[in-house]
Amino acid sequence: MGKILVTGGMGFIGSHTCVVLLEKGHDIVIADNLSNSKIETAEKIETITGKKIRVYITDINDAEGMRTIFRENEIEAAVHFAGYKAVGESVEKPLDYYSNNIGGTLMLLKVMQEFGCKKIVFSSSATVYGIVNKPPYTEDMPTSATNPYGYTKVMIEQILRDVCVSDSGFSAVALRYFNPIGAHRSGLIGENPNGIPNNLVPYIARVAGGTLECLGVFGDDYDTPDGTGVRDYIHVTDLSVGHACALDYSSRHKGFKAVNLGTGNGLSVLDVIKAYERTCGKPIPYTVKERRAGDIASSYADASLAKKIFGWTADLTVDDMCRDSWNFTVT
Ligand code: WQD
Repeated sequence: MGKILVTGGMGFIGSHTCVVLLEKGHDIVIADNLSNSKIETAEKIETITGKKIRVYITDINDAEGMRTIFRENEIEAAVHFAGYKAVGESVEKPLDYYSNNIGGTLMLLKVMQEFGCKKIVFSSSATVYGIVNKPPYTEDMPTSATNPYGYTKVMIEQILRDVCVSDSGFSAVALRYFNPIGAHRSGLIGENPNGIPNNLVPYIARVAGGTLECLGVFGDDYDTPDGTGVRDYIHVTDLSVGHACALDYSSRHKGFKAVNLGTGNGLSVLDVIKAYERTCGKPIPYTVKERRAGDIASSYADASLAKKIFGWTADLTVDDMCRDSWNFTVT
């Protein structure tokens, strides 16, 4: 059995997925350029799993770097996380995002083709549902985007569809994540963005930890139960198990498939604040601010397709997510 190449495997979701793949008996190889991750994560993955891993510090845009990986390892499939993912930054630097995310994926697919590797699980996003659809989102809805980051996900899904049309032996699963939060139960790996966090839960974690004073709640006048934004938060470990299921699925099915990875439940910003306070035992002071540009009121999955074709559901609760996030923060 060949190895699984995990691009971006040192990142937040990538590292948690590496843990799950190793625990399920897969042999993995990581390619990561460390642009948004740390090499120390490799040792933590090995500590958690008790298994050795091979890491190539390389950029997926580097043809020779990618060919070296495929020459030195029999790669059976790729789980592709590597890419820039900050919505706001993508608006400021669209060329960087299109070049890195789409160019890098094209390079990966080209080298996969050269070496006869025909299975890929791709890190897509619920952001492809854009603002034209209403939740709960189903995979047959039209995709669109409102920022370059979202367009890279829409375009890469299209590229994968086209590759599957051109090669009937190819299998591609695009996993549309909702809002991944939390950390591994060991507290050894988790989400620790550089600088001031853009996302809600890493920001709350810093407030709970005392490194940030007060959370700004971006708007309380949305058409939602308490007026604050509603999202489908999913534990990063549940999400990682979903990737292992998608990999198994790609071994049995050819063609392109887009699949939601969410809980199917929407929670408001205030719900998450209360859950965090419950689990970490500290107050989370907040002030209500203006809405954030580009935010939508509600986003949550119809999670039935993943259950139907993978036999997968997200089982961990928002309290589990907050408890593990807090445990990582204080570990
Ligand atoms: C969640 C809710 C905010 C911060 C983003 C990306 C998306 C995906 C997941 C990659 C919203 C509110 C947030 C804060 C707040 N990433 N909020 N104060 O925007 O749903 O999704 O991450 O695929 O592409 O867009 O996540 O955590 O930023 O926001 O009130 O300081 O929390 O308004 O309602 P989002 P988020």
